[in-house]
Amino acid sequence: MKCTLTSAAAAVALVIAGTHAAEVAQAGEQVSVLHWWTSGGESKAIRVLKDDMSKQGYEWKDFAVAGGSGTAAMTALKTQVISGNAPTAAQIKGPLIQDWADQGVLVTIDQAASDWKAHIPAQIDKDIKADGHYVAAPFSVHRINWLWINKADLDKVGGTPPTTWPEFFALADKFRAAGITAVAHGGQPWQDMTIWETVVLSQGAEFYRKALIDLDQKTLTSPQMVQVFETIQKIRTYFDKAYHGRDWNLATAMVISGAGGMQFMGDWAKGEFANANKKADVDFVCAPAPGTSNAYTYTADAFVFFQQNGKKDATPGQLAMAKTIMSPEFQEQFSLNKGSIPVRLDVPMDKFDSCAKKSRADEQATIKSGGFFPSLAFGELQSPVTAGAITDVVTNFMNSNEDAKEGVRKLAAAAKVK
Ligand code: BGC
Repeated sequence: MKCTLTSAAAAVALVIAGTHAAEVAQAGEQVSVLHWWTSGGESKAIRVLKDDMSKQGYEWKDFAVAGGSGTAAMTALKTQVISGNAPTAAQIKGPLIQDWADQGVLVTIDQAASDWKAHIPAQIDKDIKADGHYVAAPFSVHRINWLWINKADLDKVGGTPPTTWPEFFALADKFRAAGITAVAHGGQPWQDMTIWETVVLSQGAEFYRKALIDLDQKTLTSPQMVQVFETIQKIRTYFDKAYHGRDWNLATAMVISGAGGMQFMGDWAKGEFANANKKADVDFVCAPAPGTSNAYTYTADAFVFFQQNGKKDATPGQLAMAKTIMSPEFQEQFSLNKGSIPVRLDVPMDKFDSCAKKSRADEQATIKSGGFFPSLAFGELQSPVTAGAITDVVTNFMNSNEDAKEGVRKLAAAAKVK
């Protein structure tokens, strides 16, 4: 596809972008974009950016690499960069942003970011900078510690959203007795980690901090951690037989249809409910996972921008994309489709549903209380090597009959892998 801009179109692009003349689309500038947003809700969300960029005169080349949580996408990215075909922008987050910046292959986008600091959570602002310069544009904040429940199923068994593990297991038993798969799950390492990390969080904010941020050996080997492993062992008994390898959005589809009662998943699951025209409080219920109402694990998606043609400066397309991602209008529409909340704190929440409003309120409350944590399961914490070693332990445990104490012993060893 070739994109040629007439001068009239360029003038329109200038108005649409509301941008400085130097950043007007260069005729035919192609922006290649690597990401892993391929489910129904995810595709709808990224399409908002594609359309916006097209309106500004840029040609969008899509490199979508399927695979929830981005493991396959990160492998594809390495191959592209090594072969000299770095994309214009790529979905990267957490400590990996720094790693790529350290390779000296990114451009800074300070020019697009003049007002960002004042409008986003400080923790996220820190993550998208390298050496004091902005190198990534953040989209939104996803909360991980959610439980999604089919409302008709809940009413059918006369249940209420569980706030403790005993309540959770009592509800799971009711679902089971009614012939419903109590916990819809996809047996992939990152999905196993989602449940495990959420159960860690349910032991309290301090426990999460010591275990997963400080990697404190005493906490990692404590009786409480044994309980965490025992709890995930029990949760596993409520999966259906076909859970191995299932994609996350297919597990969400089970909760959408009612074949599944509940799912532990970040709020991109809500993007799937929205895409299926399902409404919060009517068709589904969102509740913080048992024991985690005072805490918030998050992941914040961002696009990082790679040097193009050996030039150290950002191209007009990169600056336009960064500005667009952080514009209040885009932030609103993207998150409405994605299930997240805008990373920009000045975007009004009135168009959002009760789950997003709760997410915003809990985000603000936990930032104050000290319970707002980067998610280990989603690459926001620890090096990929350490996180990978922990993931192996958790997923092996989920798929074997290992004793909880043995799981804990292996966890403590994995936390030392650097
Ligand atoms: C990303 C989400 C995405 C999810 C499932 C997470 O790592 O942050 O944006 O929807 O993976 O693919």
